[in-house]
Amino acid sequence: MTESKYTRQTVTEVRQWVPGKLFSLRVTRDPAFVFKAGQFARVGLPESNTPGAEPTLWRAYSMVSGPLDNELEFYSIVVPEGPFSPRLAALKPGDPLYVEKTPYGFLTIDRFATQPSTAQSGAYSDLWLLASGTGLSAYLSILRDPATWTTFRRIILVHGVRTAQELAYRQEIEGWSDLPEFAGIYRADPRKLIYLPIATRETLPGVPQARLTTLIQDGRLESLVGERLDPAHAKVMLCGNPAMLADARKLLGERGFAPGRRGVPGNLAVENYW
Ligand SMILES: Cc1cc2nc3c(=O)[nH]c(=O)nc-3n(C[C@H](O)[C@H](O)[C@H](O)COP(=O)(O)OP(=O)(O)OC[C@H]3O[C@@H](n4cnc5c(N)ncnc54)[C@H](O)[C@@H]3O)c2cc1C
Ligand SMILES: NC(=O)c1ccc[n+]([C@@H]2O[C@H](COP(=O)([O-])OP(=O)(O)OC[C@H]3O[C@@H](n4cnc5c(N)ncnc54)[C@H](OP(=O)(O)O)[C@@H]3O)[C@@H](O)[C@H]2O)c1
Repeated sequence: MTESKYTRQTVTEVRQWVPGKLFSLRVTRDPAFVFKAGQFARVGLPESNTPGAEPTLWRAYSMVSGPLDNELEFYSIVVPEGPFSPRLAALKPGDPLYVEKTPYGFLTIDRFATQPSTAQSGAYSDLWLLASGTGLSAYLSILRDPATWTTFRRIILVHGVRTAQELAYRQEIEGWSDLPEFAGIYRADPRKLIYLPIATRETLPGVPQARLTTLIQDGRLESLVGERLDPAHAKVMLCGNPAMLADARKLLGERGFAPGRRGVPGNLAVENYW
């Protein structure tokens, strides 16, 4: 890749969520790198450890940071045998990370033609953000975008992981309702954001130990969330493991959810991570 296509950024902070498996990175942001919440960057690293070596390995990473944040944040798994993620995990503050100048992707709320929610018209849209594993990344950016909070009546975030320790960002998400900047939103609707963490290989208190798809299929997801997954009002995003995406797409398709096509807006948007 020619140098004109990417910028060299600097790691400012590294956070370990599950040592050796899950971490996040903050890096400086080129002010010219403008993206929509839910998009991804292509980030690069050199294969060799020679100082000053050019980036030759490139991978897609959803932005975790909001579109207005000063820095970029990424959340990553370590695939032990993977060529890229162990190198990313080894970065320290001060190290370079290369970022392609163009952002990519369509997992953005403008995919959905949403009508303004008004009590008079009875029209509203709820946004369902369904993630497995690191698929959470894109939704954090979407949730850090003020537009999300004004566009939808309610936002339902479901994060499916193997074990409780993999519920990264849980404290931050659960803490939003106590922040002064969210006070007005939660006063108007204490259920504005409904966050449902689920685990498949461990029992979480009050939540069935089951896959997201099982809970969609048997109706327990709607009971747990207390909202209907109804194609007339719900806009659904799916992000993460491709097998989860395929299974969930099938179940949601049977309920009347479909991606938009040829200018016709849909009520389903999907991002495959591998
Ligand atoms: C649009 C898009 C956005 C992405 N955003 C993220 C993100 O925000 N965070 C992130 O960690 N990864 C993300 N990925 C995956 C990322 O690009 C890399 O594949 C991943 O970091 C592993 O790189 P690698 O070279 O070590 O292994 P690779 O050779 O790329 O992958 C090897 C194998 O590891 C598994 N794998 C890859 N990624 C994941 C994952 N995220 N979770 C579980 N298993 C995985 C798959 O079985 C894959 O075949 C995204 C991918 C795409 C296409
Ligand atoms: N998790 C670990 O302890 C661990 C440690 C080191 C490396 N890794 C590597 O990390 C990768 C897995 O990462 P991950 O655990 O974040 O992601 P993941 O395998 O996608 O699992 C995340 C969640 O998605 C669920 N899921 C998987 N397939 C599904 C489907 N078809 N429908 C519905 N839900 C589905 C899983 O349930 P199930 O539990 O039922 O599959 C789990 O709850 C693997 O490549 C592995 O080699 C994992």
